[in-house]
Amino acid sequence: MIQIKNLQKNFGRKHVLTGVDLTIKDGEVTTIIGGSGTGKSTLIKCIIRLIEPNDGQILVDGKDITHIKSALELAQLRRNFGYLFQEGALFDSLSVGENVTFGLKYLTDTPKNKYAAIAKDMLALVGLKDIEKLRPSELSGGMKKRVALARVLATGPKVILYDEPTSGLDPIMSEIIDELILDLKKKLGVTSVVITHDMKSAFEISDAMVMLHEGKVKLAAPREEFKKSKNPYVKQFIEGSSQGPIKMTITK
Ligand SMILES: Nc1ncnc2c1ncn2[C@@H]1O[C@H](COP(=O)(O)OP(=O)(O)OP(=O)(O)O)[C@@H](O)[C@H]1O
Ligand SMILES: [Mg+2]
Repeated sequence: MIQIKNLQKNFGRKHVLTGVDLTIKDGEVTTIIGGSGTGKSTLIKCIIRLIEPNDGQILVDGKDITHIKSALELAQLRRNFGYLFQEGALFDSLSVGENVTFGLKYLTDTPKNKYAAIAKDMLALVGLKDIEKLRPSELSGGMKKRVALARVLATGPKVILYDEPTSGLDPIMSEIIDELILDLKKKLGVTSVVITHDMKSAFEISDAMVMLHEGKVKLAAPREEFKKSKNPYVKQFIEGSSQGPIKMTITK
């Protein structure tokens, strides 16, 4: 279980997270929605400690990970977590196959002679075949995204944080990724936290849904309850309406 308490993060004078309280249950799919720039990516980067928050706590199975500094403890944390970057973040100088197996060397003791088979299997899971030797620069945007997901899956994380896993994918591939997220839950009990702008997908895969707005949680609720919410912010967002309390101007 991940318990987030009063989490705060500012970049200079910009207050991005102003007190996030949230519980993410084991074995569930929790989706995070909210306008652009509301701090969704910042929040999940804090969970995997790519960003150190200014205040508050993140308890992972009861242990506060907010201020750990030792490389060993951070490695232990990251062994259990997978993180799909919003931008994919593949290494351009490595082949696709090397990208997929990149984490194995650092996070697992998998023997090197298994790498090729793992790369093949993980790529197959995301619908890609025979592209191990290509470079990321030779792939389409959607393919890069899938390779990045294969890299996340390769280390067998217990918790996967997905930053917009289906953005830039065609509808069929989006559906396949959604099914994969649900499959990982069913077969391996993987906990997923998914940032998405795709409401159809959110309603399909979520056990719980969370809406972030102005650095705080507006609503966190089980899917059905969330869907029926009368909260004007939540309603406006779900309906994708330009009318309502949410203003779309982003200020510096
Ligand atoms: N490293 C950083 N340095 C300075 N400002 C940052 C940094 N990372 C994020 N921000 C700012 O924090 C705010 C929230 O950014 P974040 O990426 O978390 O938003 P988001 O909700 O993921 O948006 P989107 O839906 O567009 O991906 C933005 O205003 C952004 O400019
Ligand atoms: Mg983001």
